[in-house]
Amino acid sequence: MRTIKVGLDKRSYDIHIGPGLLDRLEDFLPPGLSPRCLLVTDAHVDRYYGRQVSSKLEQAGFSVAKAVVPPGEALKSFASARELYDAAFDHKLDRKSPVVALGGGVVGDLAGFIAATYMRGVPFIQLPTTLLAQVDSSVGGKVAINHPRGKNIIGAFYQPQVVVIDTSVLHTLPPRELRAAMAEVIKYGVIEDASFFDYLEGNMDRVMSLEDAVIQKIVVRCCEIKAEIVENDEKEAGLRAVLNFGHTVGHAIEALGNYQLRKHGEAVAVGMVVAGRLAVSRGLFKDAELNRLSRLLKSVPLDTELPAEWDVQRAVELMVQDKKAYQGEINFVLPETIGRVRLEKISPEELKAFLLNL
Ligand SMILES: NC(=O)c1ccc[n+]([C@@H]2O[C@H](COP(=O)([O-])OP(=O)(O)OC[C@H]3O[C@@H](n4cnc5c(N)ncnc54)[C@H](O)[C@@H]3O)[C@@H](O)[C@H]2O)c1
Repeated sequence: MRTIKVGLDKRSYDIHIGPGLLDRLEDFLPPGLSPRCLLVTDAHVDRYYGRQVSSKLEQAGFSVAKAVVPPGEALKSFASARELYDAAFDHKLDRKSPVVALGGGVVGDLAGFIAATYMRGVPFIQLPTTLLAQVDSSVGGKVAINHPRGKNIIGAFYQPQVVVIDTSVLHTLPPRELRAAMAEVIKYGVIEDASFFDYLEGNMDRVMSLEDAVIQKIVVRCCEIKAEIVENDEKEAGLRAVLNFGHTVGHAIEALGNYQLRKHGEAVAVGMVVAGRLAVSRGLFKDAELNRLSRLLKSVPLDTELPAEWDVQRAVELMVQDKKAYQGEINFVLPETIGRVRLEKISPEELKAFLLNL
């Protein structure tokens, strides 16, 4: 097992990573909690791990109210939030009662939003069960629900008190979810760590067959990188934006497919290649490096081509409306080399001209 600390003064917390950790959940619970908790999970995850986690919490002395929500992005809604607030009332949670998220990024974002807002904030515990949640969404404190007009628009920065990552749960994850999340794993190599990228190039088979030691190593490295970035820029005033490498185009691809056709990671894979090509066209990034990135993504395997539903005009409109755009300029994270990126602004006209020539 490895433990990584996210150092944020009074909001600091540990991330514990290793196989079988849910079985030892009581070892990782922070002190000072009230003995009532709200466990939020989705129906798929509940089937595999709901009973185990409920009984571990009960053994640790909690009275557990379990809220099982239907799986899927639609869950991050006002209606689901309302149901969870009702559950929190019904179960008489107080200010020290934890909300425990057991699931992927959807459950984590929703449960975290409840934790951030119920009674102006109650303790929050993350038990991420998808690779995406383990390497990305459970760390860093971004919590949100969707508004009918925009994804993740209603939210907060609200750090968990602990993150317990049991890498064994990845064995039940659908293979497509595993592949999609690998885009985020590869992203960390490009933005921050060339030797991690090299490691992925040499070990993709072992990663995809979920060898314990290899999976632990990659989850640890991704969490270390994310923790360091969040420590330096918790609320995304600047540096944290590097985590959006591949996301500008990726978000547009997700939206063009109505969030149904492409998984987040699948869209980010294409977005990283498009950002790489933009960097090559500006003379910032070498063709040979771009080829390495495409090859690594394809080895997962992940598609790197723009999808059939791609529409340059609509895509640029979506990118201008994105909450990360500012005063009409689109913010792009562009690679300079494997292991280093920079932030660049680009006008919608220039971006459109570039995309039409792809
Ligand atoms: N807060 C952040 O910083 C952040 C970062 C990235 C993404 N996100 C959000 O994360 C969400 C996507 O998260 P996700 O990719 O984890 O998807 P998800 O939560 O929808 O999970 C994917 C699917 O896998 C199932 N599942 C989860 N764990 C399982 C397991 N161990 N075994 C079997 N099935 C399992 C779920 O039931 C679901 O059907 C999006 O809403 C996105 O906005 C948030």
